[in-house]
Amino acid sequence: MKNYVIESLPDYFKQYKKSIKNPKKFWDKVADENFVWYQRWEKVLNYNMHEAKIEWFLNAKLNITKNCIDRHLAPRGRKTAIIWEPNNPDEPAQHISYNELYERVGKMSNVLRDQGIKKGDRVSVYLPMIPELAVTMLACARIGAVHSVVFAGFSSSALASRINDSETKLVITSDGGYRGNKVLDLKSIVDDALEKCPTVEKVLVVKRTNNEVTMKEGRDMWLQELLDNAPVDNIPTIMDAEDPLFILYTSGSTGKPKGMLHTCAGYMVYCAYTFKNVFNYQENDIYWCTADIGWITGHSYILYGPLANGATTVIFEGTPNYPNPDRFWQVIEKHQVSLFYTAPTAIRSLAKENADWVEKRNLSSLRVIGSVGEPINDEAWHWYNDHVGKKKCPVVDTWWQTETGGIMISPVPFVTPTKPTYATLPLPGIQPVLMDDKRNEITANQVDGNLCIRFPWPGIARTIWGDHQRYIDTYFSAFPGKYFTGDGALRDEVGYYRITGRVDDVIIVSGHNLGTAPIEDSINLHPAVAESAIVGYPHDVKGNALYGFVILKETGETRIKENLAKEINFLIADTIGPIAKLDKIQFVSGLPKTRSGKIMRRILRKIAEGDFNNFGDTSTLLNPEVVEEIKAGRIE
Ligand code: WTA
Repeated sequence: MKNYVIESLPDYFKQYKKSIKNPKKFWDKVADENFVWYQRWEKVLNYNMHEAKIEWFLNAKLNITKNCIDRHLAPRGRKTAIIWEPNNPDEPAQHISYNELYERVGKMSNVLRDQGIKKGDRVSVYLPMIPELAVTMLACARIGAVHSVVFAGFSSSALASRINDSETKLVITSDGGYRGNKVLDLKSIVDDALEKCPTVEKVLVVKRTNNEVTMKEGRDMWLQELLDNAPVDNIPTIMDAEDPLFILYTSGSTGKPKGMLHTCAGYMVYCAYTFKNVFNYQENDIYWCTADIGWITGHSYILYGPLANGATTVIFEGTPNYPNPDRFWQVIEKHQVSLFYTAPTAIRSLAKENADWVEKRNLSSLRVIGSVGEPINDEAWHWYNDHVGKKKCPVVDTWWQTETGGIMISPVPFVTPTKPTYATLPLPGIQPVLMDDKRNEITANQVDGNLCIRFPWPGIARTIWGDHQRYIDTYFSAFPGKYFTGDGALRDEVGYYRITGRVDDVIIVSGHNLGTAPIEDSINLHPAVAESAIVGYPHDVKGNALYGFVILKETGETRIKENLAKEINFLIADTIGPIAKLDKIQFVSGLPKTRSGKIMRRILRKIAEGDFNNFGDTSTLLNPEVVEEIKAGRIE
């Protein structure tokens, strides 16, 4: 990416203005000057924000892997594309060059084709953070299959529902995965899931931990044996700009998870453009994003964005504190990482450790440090800036979502003056607007509003897989004609945005989006439970933690409450995953409800926070006595 680099603050304003005045012309040039296409587009953009119909680069033909791999072979074939750092620091790292990546992706593409996978087929990927994960995604993209990566911390039922929703034909997993001092038993989780998944025909298994696994005759195959016999060369499938590239599930406040669909051209253009500008990427940088590839951050900023720029990207298998809480700092020192991207929850947990862990490591290679996933509080921002960036690396607080495909609001390093807790300014092409609850645009400063975007950008998701109406209802109906993010935000005097948190029933715990409804559904599966409500409350490491209010059935339940609480958490871990477990469970006789029967979560939220004075308007409350009971029984 050589053109459209933002060089100074006046240049930012100039480019921003251009991008708003004529977005089509702006993205036309970005796309034209920085990528390889089989065929140019006939029209830059077609859109209708009421019907949520958005198409970019109409009728253009491309393959994203030509942009991420093939075109780099001549100028930088021997350059490292991926540095893989294993969980155990004593196991050697792998350096995979662009040449080698080409070979590995080619072989994998041929294996997938051999297994009958065709353009448009869905492939579910349930792998730990090993090179095969990146290779599989790229191979899918190369042959036009749609990858659906499921984070390897999800339970078998969560995996099964994602496989069924996308009607997957083939699953790729491993015999196990390492994470800190744990060994995950991934294959048996897949085996459990597949009992409920009729569409899956084949399972390819990567060997990683040598866990004992059962291989089902006719369905399961060891991947390595297939790769050994596969040819290297693979001609990429010619894809239309709007052909699906991947599905990635994200929690909604209600119902089953939403399979956000991203398409080939717009997504590629947007994540490559934002990677270049938000990290000030230069040819010799070593870039490391600590997210799991199972989340959008990993898709856009471990894989596609960096590789489209010909960068060296680190894939790290482990955790921040294994074997010691200096693991991140040791990896930065070892690989001379210059661009580092992590989450506030990791920063907060490492800031609690003795400062020696970070001070004794040499972090002088760092140039830019980033944050993503949830609001970064003032204290964490300063710790990151002082101890990691040593006050010389700009902190880029990047706001975006699975649905947006790439970073939307963020400082441009060495260009935008940073301000703690502010994601600062919209990137070129992004038109944020704050709306009040009456659907009026907020023009005043420092007023909290609903964050919307008023014009399409190339990276926006195109639909929810299999349910376009839900896509319209969730994102385009609350504020007609605009994309509604579900986040609250305010703007300061100079136009900087500060994200204040979710305004819907999504709770962000350690940077993971969790919907209240699916967790409540899972609690309610317990035979002793009549009803439940969960809310988030502030937690100094996780950002938010979960507090559950549970009503038991009147069956004379005599079991000890602690045991019940454990069983409830076990159920949640089993149906969703351990990340959704509750920190506190309070058994109550009722929940505060309005006359129309709606739970007043606002009151529960305040009680969970320990703030008994700001319940707001309680005139519609049906059962005030229950509030007194809940207050008295609050768990500290
Ligand atoms: C939150 C992750 C404040 C926000 C890329 C958003 C943030 C949700 C920030 C999306 C940030 C993400 N400051 N809040 N810098 N980045 N969020 O889909 O609530 O996993 O709506 O995408 O995370 O989470 P998702």
